[in-house]
Amino acid sequence: MKTQLGVLFGSRSCEREVAIISAVQLMNHVDTEKYDVIPVYIDERGIWYTGDALRSVKTYMPFDPVKSKLRQVSLDMAAGSGALVAFEPGKGLFGKAQQVLVARLDVCVIVMHGLHGEDGTLQGMLELANLPYTSTGVVGSAVGMDKIIMKTFFLGAGLPTLPGVACTRSAFEKDAEAEINRAETLGYPVFVKPANLGSSIGVSRADDREGLRAALELAFSYDRRVLVEKGLDHPVELNCSVLGFDDEIETSPIEMPLSGQFLTFEEKYLHGGGSKGMASLSRVVPAPIDDGTRDEIQRVAREVFRQLDCKGVVRIDFMFDRATEKLYITEINTIPGSLAFYLWEAGGMKYSALIDRMVAYARKAHAEKNANSFAFRSDILSKAQLGGAKGAKGAKGGKLGGGKLG
Ligand SMILES: Nc1ncnc2c1ncn2[C@@H]1O[C@H](COP(=O)(O)OP(=O)(O)O)[C@@H](O)[C@H]1O
Ligand SMILES: [Mg+2]
Repeated sequence: MKTQLGVLFGSRSCEREVAIISAVQLMNHVDTEKYDVIPVYIDERGIWYTGDALRSVKTYMPFDPVKSKLRQVSLDMAAGSGALVAFEPGKGLFGKAQQVLVARLDVCVIVMHGLHGEDGTLQGMLELANLPYTSTGVVGSAVGMDKIIMKTFFLGAGLPTLPGVACTRSAFEKDAEAEINRAETLGYPVFVKPANLGSSIGVSRADDREGLRAALELAFSYDRRVLVEKGLDHPVELNCSVLGFDDEIETSPIEMPLSGQFLTFEEKYLHGGGSKGMASLSRVVPAPIDDGTRDEIQRVAREVFRQLDCKGVVRIDFMFDRATEKLYITEINTIPGSLAFYLWEAGGMKYSALIDRMVAYARKAHAEKNANSFAFRSDILSKAQLGGAKGAKGAKGGKLGGGKLG
């Protein structure tokens, strides 16, 4: 039997369209001898669909589920079921609506960027459903999504990162000048970033107080928490993908994306007509850097992967400051654009083989988790003498708060 591979993509995120491109690309490269692909698209309202039309980018321009003959589905949350079910309206006047099994997913590939997919939420849902999935787990995904907590993690882990100041919308609304003063201690230029976005959305550079104010206002329109980070002048950006799980960790060749002042959404995705997602960005692979810098980037990238307990394929972005020759981690993308397949291809691995590896790590992590004992037995229930609802004063019968434990 072929593996039933659910490809979950889209979702309620500013980066949904980028995810559509990443997912269509991935589905075109799956080895059909090994897998049946079941596309599952979550639209901007959070409604789940399946159907063959989801494999074509045209289906989303504009998205019309009826015209595309898509079925609305949901995932059975019973642990280990993997059932994707559709509701079919009853036939005729008195026909009852029915739940129909569309597929049983063996493994889920998550192709989502940003909130509600890359941030640990969907990962948590799949942990509950006890299904193997291809991305980093709940904690690593959540830390990787939040630029403020990510920085706290890098600092705590002793990993090289630029200094930053965290701001909240409520504090800014109460006393904007005080917040600007706090952020200004970093010295200009600074980069201002919504904590929970990606693809450079809402990110801007500020070179003076007025610029900082405008940058904060823009960022606060996207998120209630904003990171202000010490900026570098024309840093060399260098990205490295990491693949693996647990003690198997491998790094890809390093790319040097080519950008203007900094990498904007347009530069990331709209080169070459925009149909290739991150794969269409202008870049140099391998980056023209000396072996020492390359080794250092790959070492730090592996270290980030290990400490965040990542799984599958991630991309870790760096900035190299020419003036000081120092290297800083910009961020981790736990579900990178185009799944960073182009970097692995540059290293000699076909996309289909990369997918095989991601699936294998998903299964390995799932098996390891299920090998843990969840069956710690105690006789706590039989020993407990519970009264009425604890603390419910006046409850009739039974001792109040009388549950004796242990
Ligand atoms: N501290 C910084 N100094 C200089 N450039 C930066 C800095 N932080 C971000 N940038 C530029 O902004 C881009 C987007 O920032 P990043 O933190 O990667 O956010 P996103 O998650 O939106 O990609 C980077 O790729 C880089 O070009
Ligand atoms: Mg980035």
